[in-house]
Amino acid sequence: MLVVQISDPHIYAHGQLMEGRVDTARGLTVALEQARRFAPDLIILSGDLVNDADPAQYEHLADLLAGTELPLLLVAGNHDDRDAVRAIASTTSGALTPLPSVHGELEYDIVLPDGGPRFLVVDTVRADSHSGLLTSERLDALDQQLSTGAQTVVVQHHPPFISGIDFMDHYGLEGGAEELDVIARHRNVLAVLTGHLHRYAVHIRSGVTVITSPSSAAQVALDLSGGGTSYTEEPGSILLHRFDDAGVTSHVMPLRDSDTWRPSWAS
Ligand SMILES: [Fe+2]
Ligand SMILES: [Fe+2]
Repeated sequence: MLVVQISDPHIYAHGQLMEGRVDTARGLTVALEQARRFAPDLIILSGDLVNDADPAQYEHLADLLAGTELPLLLVAGNHDDRDAVRAIASTTSGALTPLPSVHGELEYDIVLPDGGPRFLVVDTVRADSHSGLLTSERLDALDQQLSTGAQTVVVQHHPPFISGIDFMDHYGLEGGAEELDVIARHRNVLAVLTGHLHRYAVHIRSGVTVITSPSSAAQVALDLSGGGTSYTEEPGSILLHRFDDAGVTSHVMPLRDSDTWRPSWAS
């Protein structure tokens, strides 16, 4: 089973650029083109689907996703409006159906028709904040959900760890450490797949592996010395997660022209 993860596309309204410089629609279009080349079983969009939760931005997103057809998991991020994402999930061909919500959360509990792991989406969005939140009630529910023993991939927007990039950690996930404690108690979570950080990172703790995806739009600069908010011209990337009986292997695929070549020693 092959799963492509595209994160933080931050789509703007038609014709508008992020900060007047980043064509985020182009980023998502190229990401989807690259994704289709691998004929994945599932595409995960791990949140911040648009930039300002604006209806015109969601219209643009819907246009960009039209015709994707492949199973599509639409996760809410801190820049999103959950109802708008839910509406797009109900009208986009291939988009999977979220669970019925009690308090508006956008969550999923999915097993694809051909089998493979269960994909459990945890909604980390906190109202009116760029930080995330997992309440003790939500953590109890996660504990319960994982107790079925089914092999599970947890998907969510906010990473549950400190990255070392100060300005992003400022917008971190309250309850993240407690979430990792819950997951560590169960032996059935293959990986936690997240976005929000706008760059690739792997966090391993107590046998739990968390992977953050780069953005298809703009990348956060790798500054571990406490500098302020800073982005970089590094290209966007997508992740390819390959599942087999032994586990999951994650690959990073930059979104730029990358011709292949064969070294002389291989001829
Ligand atoms: Fe983002
Ligand atoms: Fe985010």
